[in-house]
Amino acid sequence: MPNTNHKLMENIVFTNNVATELQDATNSTAREDIFVLTDCNTLKYCMPVIGELAFKETNVITIPANETSKNLESVSKVWLTLSQRLVRRNSLLINLGGGMICDLGGFAASCFKRGMRYINVPTTLLAQVDASVGGKTGINFNGLKNEIGVFSQAEAIIMDTVFFSTLDKRQILSGYGEMFKHALLAGCSDLKSLMEINPLHAENEFFRKPIKRSLEIKQSIVSKDPFEKGERKSLNFGHTAGHAIESFRIHENKDLYHGEAVAHGIIIELYLSIMKLNFDSQLCEEIKTYLRSIFNIDFNGINAESLYNLMLHDKKNTDDEVNFTLLSRVGEYKTDCYCSKKEIIDAIEHAK
Ligand SMILES: NC(=O)c1ccc[n+]([C@@H]2O[C@H](COP(=O)([O-])OP(=O)(O)OC[C@H]3O[C@@H](n4cnc5c(N)ncnc54)[C@H](O)[C@@H]3O)[C@@H](O)[C@H]2O)c1
Ligand SMILES: [Zn+2]
Repeated sequence: MPNTNHKLMENIVFTNNVATELQDATNSTAREDIFVLTDCNTLKYCMPVIGELAFKETNVITIPANETSKNLESVSKVWLTLSQRLVRRNSLLINLGGGMICDLGGFAASCFKRGMRYINVPTTLLAQVDASVGGKTGINFNGLKNEIGVFSQAEAIIMDTVFFSTLDKRQILSGYGEMFKHALLAGCSDLKSLMEINPLHAENEFFRKPIKRSLEIKQSIVSKDPFEKGERKSLNFGHTAGHAIESFRIHENKDLYHGEAVAHGIIIELYLSIMKLNFDSQLCEEIKTYLRSIFNIDFNGINAESLYNLMLHDKKNTDDEVNFTLLSRVGEYKTDCYCSKKEIIDAIEHAK
């Protein structure tokens, strides 16, 4: 197949031949100076795709998979390997994995010898539309998500939908939840196009165009506010309630992927948008019906009071009010909307 690579934004490359693209991007770096970070799943499923023989086996660093590994211990492992191999200033780390690997690898590289080069090769839909771009890197610490981290940009981000072949459908849906949020922030035509896709049945290739669009939306917001002083908070839409649901389900030992939790959060926050900013209530019902047809939306057993308490514990809140980004209409958002306990509990009850 010809390599139809397409440079989307400055450092993002979209390709259907990731192995060749990566070879080109690393051509000027000596083979012994190139390191690859994977988790155990991406070592198995994604390393063969990028042409494992092209990389020195001893330079592949593998950490256990999933969110529980996004910690200081894994970062130490990365630093130790790099340090023992006398990494030079020009050395390069390739982060091959989902959001966990991109966040952790970006952080490890940014601190090592005050900053070494790194390239993200995101292998989940969520990492392609969100985690691998925008310059936020970090790890969880002291039981808190992304507590330690830095803003730092990857030298390049190389995207290929080929990786989705080994992802389970729920992982695809998780990424779709973030794409849906981007579309709601962008406008009606973006929302309409996205709602025409059935992410459960779409072929990998089919995601290329919507991913590019989703990235454009995220990049246009991030470029106005790279360090999250204002505008970038809009990307939190669906997340204040979504994070609370994620924590609630963790306590119950039920697994809920991040984008699935965001889909639940979007529904709650649309009801708040109706109350606070006159969002169209009929459109809210239509979106809720659509999300229910795609995601396994389940508010069963969710206690509104407990959910409110979880939201309140988020850092950016006052004594009893919680800070949200809300929508006045699709494509028009307002950050720093404070909602009362009563409003939040009402919205949760409506969402059910
Ligand atoms: N930096 C940011 O702006 C940002 C934005 C959103 C999310 N995040 C972070 O992203 C992380 C979530 O990302 P995620 O959902 O990609 O999780 P993840 O990286 O944990 O990947 C999910 C699972 O899929 C496996 N996997 C990855 N690629 C695969 C492939 N191609 N085939 C088979 N299995 C594969 C992984 O091993 C893991 O088990 C969280 O840590 C979150 O905080 C960061
Ligand atoms: Zn998110």
